[in-house]
Amino acid sequence: MQISGAVVLITGANGGIAAHFIEQLLGLDVAKIYVCARNVAKLNPLLTLDRDTGKNRIIPVELDVTNPQSVLNAASQCQDVTLLINNAGTSLNQGLIAASDIDSARNEMEVNYFGMLSMCRAFAPILKQHGGGAIINILSLLGKVNLPFSGSYSASKAAAISMTQGVRAELTGQNTLVVAVMPGTVDTELAKEWPNPKVAPAEVASSALQAVIDGVEDVYPGEQAAQVSAQLLSDPKGVEKYMASFLPGMMLAGTNA
Ligand SMILES: NC(=O)c1ccc[n+]([C@@H]2O[C@H](COP(=O)([O-])OP(=O)(O)OC[C@H]3O[C@@H](n4cnc5c(N)ncnc54)[C@H](OP(=O)(O)O)[C@@H]3O)[C@@H](O)[C@H]2O)c1
Repeated sequence: MQISGAVVLITGANGGIAAHFIEQLLGLDVAKIYVCARNVAKLNPLLTLDRDTGKNRIIPVELDVTNPQSVLNAASQCQDVTLLINNAGTSLNQGLIAASDIDSARNEMEVNYFGMLSMCRAFAPILKQHGGGAIINILSLLGKVNLPFSGSYSASKAAAISMTQGVRAELTGQNTLVVAVMPGTVDTELAKEWPNPKVAPAEVASSALQAVIDGVEDVYPGEQAAQVSAQLLSDPKGVEKYMASFLPGMMLAGTNA
């Protein structure tokens, strides 16, 4: 799919990876970007990005992906979308047993799984109307192997990876490309407590957009993700045992994993 001329919608647009998506999309000459956030005031810094071109391609939209009415409102407001980027996500860094209750696990599942699924369902008919288009789902390598330090986040991303495969199968017939992006640790606010190495958020965005251009379904941006995904094929139990050493409360930013 060509990115030039696309009408893009990105969720969690005020986040660290999203900023790079938006900058790169403008450089690739998209027609329009709906930038979505729970609090639209947080989008103000983005609105200046396209001012110099005089094209005003950035359109703010209020969207909480966990609120069904909010998702419906966004879909009815953005009927011309050809590229959906499901980027919104949350990580509360809780263990599965060590957490005091299962509220954080539910919250992560609501945002990372049900929120993403709701967006795919709401926008599938819109993408179909415009010839198929593409969906980019921002997932995580931790959906492939559990990191106990954030065990419930890992489980929510595992659910989202499975959902992405199912959505891909259902939307093949309408010619929608569904891209799964599975980075390791990315250098943003969300991972501030996680140790190095961290891939640059710009690399995550550029790998995902290149996958859309090339028609690639699964992307592992950065060296860490490429290495671990290869190890998961050759020695999945070894990777699980290595990750098992990162227990809740044990990780500190600045240490090496
Ligand atoms: N950073 C990493 O190491 C890493 C690694 C692998 C995958 N990822 C994934 O990459 C994506 C982007 O994360 P990031 O690193 O850029 O983190 P970030 O800067 O914290 O961005 C997360 C964004 O998601 C938004 N969000 C959270 N809950 C939402 C909801 N209910 N409805 C709508 N938006 C919501 C946040 O908005 P608010 O400001 O309103 O909270 C924020 O804009 C996430 O899906 C994350 O899981 C990150």
